[in-house]
Amino acid sequence: MAQAEVLPEVTKFTEQPKMIIGGKTADAVTAKTFEVIDPSTGKAFTEVPLGDLADVDAAVAAAREAFEDRRWAGLRPGKKTEVLFKIADLIKRNIPELAQLESLDSGKPVKLASGEIWAAAEAFRYYAGWPTKFHGETNATDDNMFSYSLREPLGVCGGIIPWNFPMIMASWKVAPALAFGNTVVLKPAEQTPLTAIRLAQLCLEAGVPDGVVNVVTGLGPQAGQALAQHDNVDKIAFTGSTEVGRKILHATEGNLKRVTLELGGKSPNIVFADANIRRASKGSMMGVFLNSGQVCTAGSRILVESSIHDEFVESLVESTESMKVGPALEEDTGMGPVVSKEQLERVTGYIDIGRSEGAEVATGGGVPGDLNGGYFVNPTIFTGVRNEMRIAQEEIFGPVAAVIKVDDVDEAIAVANDTIYGLAAAVWTESLSKAHRVARGIRAGTVWVNTAGLYDPGISFGGYKQSGYGRELGLQSMETYTQTKSVWINLK
Ligand code: NAI
Ligand code: MG
Repeated sequence: MAQAEVLPEVTKFTEQPKMIIGGKTADAVTAKTFEVIDPSTGKAFTEVPLGDLADVDAAVAAAREAFEDRRWAGLRPGKKTEVLFKIADLIKRNIPELAQLESLDSGKPVKLASGEIWAAAEAFRYYAGWPTKFHGETNATDDNMFSYSLREPLGVCGGIIPWNFPMIMASWKVAPALAFGNTVVLKPAEQTPLTAIRLAQLCLEAGVPDGVVNVVTGLGPQAGQALAQHDNVDKIAFTGSTEVGRKILHATEGNLKRVTLELGGKSPNIVFADANIRRASKGSMMGVFLNSGQVCTAGSRILVESSIHDEFVESLVESTESMKVGPALEEDTGMGPVVSKEQLERVTGYIDIGRSEGAEVATGGGVPGDLNGGYFVNPTIFTGVRNEMRIAQEEIFGPVAAVIKVDDVDEAIAVANDTIYGLAAAVWTESLSKAHRVARGIRAGTVWVNTAGLYDPGISFGGYKQSGYGRELGLQSMETYTQTKSVWINLK
């Protein structure tokens, strides 16, 4: 199958991608760089600055200055709306370029990457509506007083993001920060630094003033840690592993900055006997294997009612085996590689653990024969899984599904909730009452019924339990990107 040609814009951009600080391109203070690897080949195709403490300092100083002089917050609300719409338009206009960059950087098939870029633009479109629509209130007082509240930005917002959906994650941090008048320092994942840089360039092109959106590329324990710890940063929005989420929380305690954490998951995908089996198996398959299983809400625990277990597994295996594993830029690829050598080792390690725990491999269970240097894993379905097994409890973040038998609604809810995580769940049933019982019974931030993996910028997203706290998107993001001030005026 044909490999898509790399676009000239992509080649040009990858010649010399740099950080964006104070509206200008920047090398690391140390002049050091690190390689960016294409997961489909295992080969480096460009390098980016290895930002560290000094670079974070410079970016935070630029963001602080841009916040304090109100070059962004002070603009007419309608002007901010116009700029945010412009960013959305520029992202949409550049979908082919951004999608290829994302594919090369992360290994995801180009069609999926195009959808991701589109969704990032949609986040900006949604947030473009906010500057003209949020405001404070008039408070109740006696006749001697007048009181009102101002709803104000937080200040400098740090965004620390993962590699699974780099452009969506960047837009979920940058768009709300801008909509509510903040400035931003973004630290993309070291595996996928490119589209964040490109997004910052597009923000400048759209008319975002210098210093309002800054990007520092670098490693988590250095640049990430420096940002989380920085006394001049007012908020950190983090998406990533629960383990690093804990580190972020400790790092932020010095100045008590605001924190939102969107962390790991081990989401249940429950299929009841009365479900439409075909629809449920296709949906469950996408729910766990989309983006090579590298999705925080992946339905990686598939709970199936015993009476339909064999029929369902057969259908699930069939739709899984129809998906072609291959390089991201090949047009008929259904599932690309995982993002890095570390992830490849981690995922195949879990496949070994599953076998040694006594689970059976219904399909997959290893790497394809012809790897050609890429980080490919065959989509793997384990059956005979008990919920206490490690493959049912630990976030694998790769194309590995654990199928667990359950006997009724109560057992399904109990098993679904028997996890430290609570990010999402999917339920497949034709029974209205069963759907609502489960939706109420599950301790998770999102529940999908007869669908899976849907997001919308207008619908809040976040975790219960160790999947994190705070909500992104929707009305609730106003609370996590602003603070209120009560003003008292003596009228006598
Ligand atoms: P990670 O949590 O280490 O990385 C996420 C972001 O945090 C990156 O930008 C990284 O540079 C930064 N970071 C890392 N250490 C940091 C520190 N000490 N201080 C500040 N920032 C830091 O994720 P990683 O190591 O790439 O993947 C490991 C596992 O984490 C995956 O196998 C998966 O289970 C989970 N993960 C979950 C994600 C989710 O969305 N729930 C996303 C990415 C990974
Ligand atoms: Mg890490």
